[in-house]
Amino acid sequence: MLEPSIQLLNKARQGHYAVPAFNFHNLEIMQAIIKTAEKQQSPVILQITPTYLEKIGDVAATAMARAAAKEAKVPVALHLDHSNSLSWIKWALAHGFTSVMIDASTLPLNENIAYARQTVEWAHAHGAAVEAELGHIGGIEDGQETGTNPNMGLADPVEAVKLVTESGIDAFAPAVGTAHGLYKLPPNINFSLIDTLSSLVNVPLVLHGGSGIPDDMIRKAIEKGIAKVNIGTELKVTWAKAMTEALITEQEPWKTALKVHEEVGQVVAHKISLCGSNGKA
Ligand code: 13P
Ligand code: ZN
Ligand code: NA
Repeated sequence: MLEPSIQLLNKARQGHYAVPAFNFHNLEIMQAIIKTAEKQQSPVILQITPTYLEKIGDVAATAMARAAAKEAKVPVALHLDHSNSLSWIKWALAHGFTSVMIDASTLPLNENIAYARQTVEWAHAHGAAVEAELGHIGGIEDGQETGTNPNMGLADPVEAVKLVTESGIDAFAPAVGTAHGLYKLPPNINFSLIDTLSSLVNVPLVLHGGSGIPDDMIRKAIEKGIAKVNIGTELKVTWAKAMTEALITEQEPWKTALKVHEEVGQVVAHKISLCGSNGKA
């Protein structure tokens, strides 16, 4: 069933587990996410970026995700990931997304707050929730470099309180030392910063850059108060490997799709278990 993101996040925060939020890039990856969430009895967030909406077809991709979410036997939310444009926020709200992320983290704090506040006003009128980011989460996103030093620009606690209280956002994504894409060296996550932020800030915390983070670090981040873990790159890498192998002997698309379901499904199942969301549907 399609459920409001905020409901899933608040339950996770109270229950000391995290909701896994998986980026989807095509039909097969999306099906692998939902099928596995059903097997694991886990709530799940399906998320997609404006770049992917634009490249793979915004109306069709959204319709497919909403239909699959409604049909699912577990709670599924639909989230717009990393939108730096207010027009994509409006578009997503008009097309039934249950939450949106306004990413104005490269702007000065006051402008970041202004964007977040505008997004909250529109989103809440649609019954949708808002996530906003503070600090610099670097790395590679949608195949494009967004910055190189993940330790540069961690979220400042005083600014965090100001952003959250002045904008009215529902979920908060602070830069805590992770980066998008895979890591050359394990990330240097500032766990005491997560601790501090979760005691200062009264909304669920989101961990970006979930791919490539060692398992024990993900568990520890959740213990410290992370309630949503974003995972994208590992699904894409696994999809590419599964397709490459399948295409050596197989040219029938439904058969390659099954291979993707199986292999991407294994990654999804593992992340669900790290989040502790299995059995929480
Ligand atoms: P990864 O690609 O590192 O998993 O990050 C995903 C993410 O943060 C999506 O917002
Ligand atoms: Zn992200
Ligand atoms: Na990552």
